[in-house]
Amino acid sequence: MLASLWNGAQLLFRPYPYFRDARTTWRAPLPGLGSVLVSADAALVAEAARHPGLVGGRAHRAMRATLGDNHLIVMSGPQHRLRSRQVRRALQAFSSDAEMAAVTRKEFARTPLGRPFSLQQVAHRASLRIILRGLVGQDDAELVGLCQDFQASFSSPLVLFVEGLRRDWGPWSPWGRLLRRRSRLNEALIQAAGRAPADTIAARLPPETWAQELLPQLMFGHETTAATFAWCFALLYEEARRRIRQGDDGFTLAYVQECMRLCPPVAQLTRVATQEVRLGSHSLKAGEVVMPAIPGLHHHGWSQSERLRPERFLEGTPDPHRYCPFGVGERICPGKPMALRQLVMMLQSVLQNFDLRLLEGYRPCPVRQLFLVAPARGTPVVRHA
Ligand code: HEM
Repeated sequence: MLASLWNGAQLLFRPYPYFRDARTTWRAPLPGLGSVLVSADAALVAEAARHPGLVGGRAHRAMRATLGDNHLIVMSGPQHRLRSRQVRRALQAFSSDAEMAAVTRKEFARTPLGRPFSLQQVAHRASLRIILRGLVGQDDAELVGLCQDFQASFSSPLVLFVEGLRRDWGPWSPWGRLLRRRSRLNEALIQAAGRAPADTIAARLPPETWAQELLPQLMFGHETTAATFAWCFALLYEEARRRIRQGDDGFTLAYVQECMRLCPPVAQLTRVATQEVRLGSHSLKAGEVVMPAIPGLHHHGWSQSERLRPERFLEGTPDPHRYCPFGVGERICPGKPMALRQLVMMLQSVLQNFDLRLLEGYRPCPVRQLFLVAPARGTPVVRHA
């Protein structure tokens, strides 16, 4: 019990050192998951990604409670494969480069001059508007507001992780409020999807999936990108700033990829054994979990792994099981092309149009934000011009 709580606390408060500094594969008791096989060994993770006896989606209890029981992220087996094809096809429709840059410029133009603000917060709003346009072709203030209200329902994350608190005692109780805000947002999204232009994600998804899929795509499609953007800015150095500002697409992409190696916003994946499974010299009983540790995979076997060196992504493509900020195997993130393109556009747009500098003395320590790891205080910056 104590060991489980200790490991849970490490995972929450020291996600990078916990996954990076230990051995490459180890057993750890974790709250709610039992004895977990944690691994930063690329060969073992490759084997796990292919193994038919290991499935994704089952360990996401908090995600089920919050976003519903029947969407891609919590599905497995044939149902997951069918939905995955539908979602991947739909996600090929995404906003144009010019549109992403314009939305970003507009949001950053509203920031104060000479006073510190959280870069992640502004990027969050820009990303929310970009995904809303991609999803349903509109990003009016009402939709943005409904989404922000829903997100405010998790301002105390206890409501997500403590099962006993997930009780609907009316609109004033934390869980009751969350459920009501979720239905309002879902209804608005479904209505907007009914009017969505043909080149949107919603229009390319079968309408019978809207009630389950629109909300998760909206949530996953902007929180992750905003946290990654905050890392990219927190790690910026002068030469990178210069090349990104020049609009060097190849370098900007390599820079984003390298930031995601050093500071991955998703720190761990989970796969549950449906039968007895052997992975190398390790075995799992049915019901046990294997946890690929992304910061560890991005650390072991890389030369000068502590150094931020975007050029490594210009020199070659890494092994997909040693570099996996978007996951591995058949569950790899369907939003990856959209997210990478958007991050390139956002970085160039911000650096070309504004003079933003990190708040003096700021050190970007990793902190947990629900399912993500982001730089402390969302990267505080000051705008000089
Ligand atoms: C920088 C941004 C992003 C990061 C770091 C990221 C990361 C990830 C990771 C690590 C997974 C795998 C989870 C697992 O294997 O259990 C995943 C899955 C997923 N992501 Fe992303 N993601 C990003 C952007 C997006 C965007 C823009 C969308 C949609 C618009 C999206 C939608 C999804 C969905 C639906 C899944 C579930 C796939 C499945 O289970 O088959 N993500 N993402």
